[in-house]
Amino acid sequence: MGEFDGKVALVTGAASGIGRASARLFAEAGAKVVVADIDRSGADETAALIAAAGGEALAVTVDVADGASVKAMVDAALERFGRLDIAHNNAGIMGAGADIIDMDDAVWQRGIDVMLTGVFLCMKHEIPHMIEQGGGVVVNTSSGAGLIGFPGQANYVAAKHGVIGLTKSAALEYIGRGVRVNAICPGTARSRMVDEWMDGSAEAEAEVAALHPIGRIAEPEEIARAALWLASDAASFVVGTALPVDGGYTVP
Ligand SMILES: NC(=O)c1ccc[n+]([C@@H]2O[C@H](COP(=O)([O-])OP(=O)(O)OC[C@H]3O[C@@H](n4cnc5c(N)ncnc54)[C@H](O)[C@@H]3O)[C@@H](O)[C@H]2O)c1
Repeated sequence: MGEFDGKVALVTGAASGIGRASARLFAEAGAKVVVADIDRSGADETAALIAAAGGEALAVTVDVADGASVKAMVDAALERFGRLDIAHNNAGIMGAGADIIDMDDAVWQRGIDVMLTGVFLCMKHEIPHMIEQGGGVVVNTSSGAGLIGFPGQANYVAAKHGVIGLTKSAALEYIGRGVRVNAICPGTARSRMVDEWMDGSAEAEAEVAALHPIGRIAEPEEIARAALWLASDAASFVVGTALPVDGGYTVP
C-alpha cells in the first residue's frame, strides 16, 4: 500500500530537478502523476521513468505563465484521471542575473510571470476542482530567496517572496473548504537550473555549499520529500506555512 494510493498528483516543472524528483516520489508512493512542463521532451522522459518503475503518469505541455495553457493542463489531468488531489506548483526559471538598475524589463517580467503569476494561475485553476471533490492539497515551491534577499536576482527574490504571500492568502481563503495550502523554501539543490548557474565548476559548488551550514548542497529528492510530507496526512494540521528545506541557509 502506497501512502498516496488512489490520489492524483500534478507537478509543474516536472521535466527536471526538484519537480522530476517530486513526480517520481509521488508515483512511487502510489499516486497517478501529471508531469507538466514547458519542456515536453523532459516531461516525456520523467513520465517514461515513472512508467518504467511501474507507476502511471501523463506528460502535459504547459507554460504556467499563460492562463489558457494552465487551464488546458488541469483539464487534461481531469480528463485522464478524473480528479485532482495534490498540486505541487514548482516550475521556475533563474536566468541571467543583474542588479536592479541594469535589469532588462523583459527579464524582470518573465521572472514574475513564470514564478509568481504562474503559481497564482495554477492555484486559480486547480483549487475549484479540489473544492468540488471535497478537498485537496497544494504545495508551492518558493525558495530560501523567498525568505531572505540576495543581490543580482531581484526578479527571482521578489517572485519567491510573493509566492509565500500567495500561499498564505490561498491557505486562509480555502482551508475552510478542505484545501490545505503550504510552501517549501529550498536551499540550493542539484538541478538543471543550478548546474547551469554553477557551470560545472567544483569551486563554484564549494562556494555555494559553504553558504549552507550543513556544508553541502541538496539532492533534489531531499527537497521533494518535504513537498510529499506537506502533501501527506502526516501534515494534516499544517496550513499556510513556508517550510525552509535549506540545510540551515536561512538560519543565521
Ligand atoms: N535548485 C535549487 O537550488 C532551488 C532553490 C530554491 C528554489 N528552487 C525552485 O525550485 C523549483 C524547481 O527548480 P529546479 O531547481 O528543479 O530547476 P530545474 O531547472 O531543474 O527545473 C525547473 C523546471 O521548470 C520548467 N519551467 C520553466 N519555465 C516554465 C514555464 N513557464 N512553464 C512550465 N514549466 C516551466 C523547466 O522547463 C524545468 O523543467 C523552481 O521554482 C526553483 O525556483 C530551486
